[in-house]
Amino acid sequence: MKINLSFAPTSAELNVYSCFNKTQEEKAAKTTKTSKKAPASKAKTEKVLVKPHWPEEVTEAFEHAVASKHYKGDVGETFALTLVNGQSAIILGLGDKNKVTKETLRRQIAHIYKAVSGRYEDMNLHLDGFLLKGEQEESLAAIVESLHMTSYVFDRHLSAKKTAKLQTINLVTSEKKTAQKKFEAAIAEASKIGESITVAKNFVNEAPNILNSETYAKEIEKDAKSLKNVKVKVLGVPELKKENMNMFLSVNAGSAYGARLVHLTYTPKKATSKTRHIALVGKGLTFDTGGYSLKPGASMMNMKFDMAGSATVYAAFRAAVLLELPVKISCYLGMTDNAVNEKATMPDSIVKARNGKTVEILNTDAEGRLVLGDVVNYACDSKPDALIDAATLTGAILVALGNEVCGLFSNDQKLADALLKSAKNSDEYMWQLPIIDEHKNDMKSVVADLKNIGGASFGGSAKGAAFIEAFIEPGISWAHLDIAGIGDSQGHLPYCSAKGASGLVIRTLVDYLRKQ
Ligand code: BES
Ligand code: MN
Ligand code: ZN
Repeated sequence: MKINLSFAPTSAELNVYSCFNKTQEEKAAKTTKTSKKAPASKAKTEKVLVKPHWPEEVTEAFEHAVASKHYKGDVGETFALTLVNGQSAIILGLGDKNKVTKETLRRQIAHIYKAVSGRYEDMNLHLDGFLLKGEQEESLAAIVESLHMTSYVFDRHLSAKKTAKLQTINLVTSEKKTAQKKFEAAIAEASKIGESITVAKNFVNEAPNILNSETYAKEIEKDAKSLKNVKVKVLGVPELKKENMNMFLSVNAGSAYGARLVHLTYTPKKATSKTRHIALVGKGLTFDTGGYSLKPGASMMNMKFDMAGSATVYAAFRAAVLLELPVKISCYLGMTDNAVNEKATMPDSIVKARNGKTVEILNTDAEGRLVLGDVVNYACDSKPDALIDAATLTGAILVALGNEVCGLFSNDQKLADALLKSAKNSDEYMWQLPIIDEHKNDMKSVVADLKNIGGASFGGSAKGAAFIEAFIEPGISWAHLDIAGIGDSQGHLPYCSAKGASGLVIRTLVDYLRKQ
């Protein structure tokens, strides 16, 4: 799909215009008995179309269409026309102009894309009626993001590819040419984020027999080769042993593939001693069988997505590098699967973590925290100003927040607030949950310093977070994002697929990195 900016309409097959409406009092009807009786406050209202940006030929064709009198321009309501020059046009309703947000644009652009991508080769999207006042570039970015996200398909294993007919989208504006630079920049930036989201989705959707810890690490290394000012270091099993990451290695014990810790560092060109340094850590379980605490079949299905945290932070890192953000970023991806063989870790095992704490592993299915505990501790060595981990950590987060909301935990309210603000700015759902002392106490073991599951079955997400926190070095600001719910199957959002990777949270993280 090609996205162009153009300052004049082109000969594309389809033109898309927006339209709004406003509610006003119905024009006084001829005085009848009933209308006389009706008190003024109960005056009937009607919706009228607002369409100041339509060119004459569109207005003409619209008024010529007999059925257009029924069209109200409500959000998502469309009206199809044929213009005098033979081109098609679709009017897309955006409802009350005062209520339109960037998220309205994302969702409605997704609806239009899906409706037309199988029928037309190219289209003009007439921006004038889509860009919000005072937020022109942000609106444009939202539209481009949505086009990238919505047009995504995972068809690499299908014999019949799902190639869309729609290949060219012209974003047409009647703004003065002076707007060109800032509009083009907005499109280019949103495309960098959009492409990085695609990279993450491709990793998440890939099958676990193809994407294992060894191939995943290689693929990341390969992708990162094209990134400027980035260094990559990959730790394998011998290096992880040297680092005393025995919790991480205990999860890898039953695997046919060696664990990998991919450590990427981006140093911006003009870094000074004042440059902020953010560490991103991701759970990269290429498959989670549960280990000896085996998952039942139905719960095991789709556990290829248990590496979504690592794909999410990598994509945010990748986008930040492409955007050349002036912030230092270290990115750590802990990769293994959680499988069973004769060497797999047995429940009741006790291992010593990188930071010296001993851990009783009571449930091998609570493996993400074992990997992350060692990896966040390793990340603390670089003394970042903030450390953010993302993980498909607990099924309990779906119970707490539904599958639509990302769970946030933190030891630093300032960091939590910044992430919540970035989520809001990106129109992504995120909600903070507490880690209280009782949660921490429930993770203490009688035979070791910690155990990897709580004693009481409630509050599983907070207890998982409390466990990870035990491996954060004192003084380090840390936040944990539990993406088990929102990592995939976000069909309620028109720009996400009903099944498969969602690509969410990446925009929030990029927004956060932008504000450093
Ligand atoms: N990867 C799962 C979390 C998960 C579960 C993600 C369901 C998406 C949907 C994680 O490793 C896990 O198995 N967690 C356990 C923890 C429990 C054993 C304390 C869970 O949530 O059941
Ligand atoms: Mn598990
Ligand atoms: Zn898991």
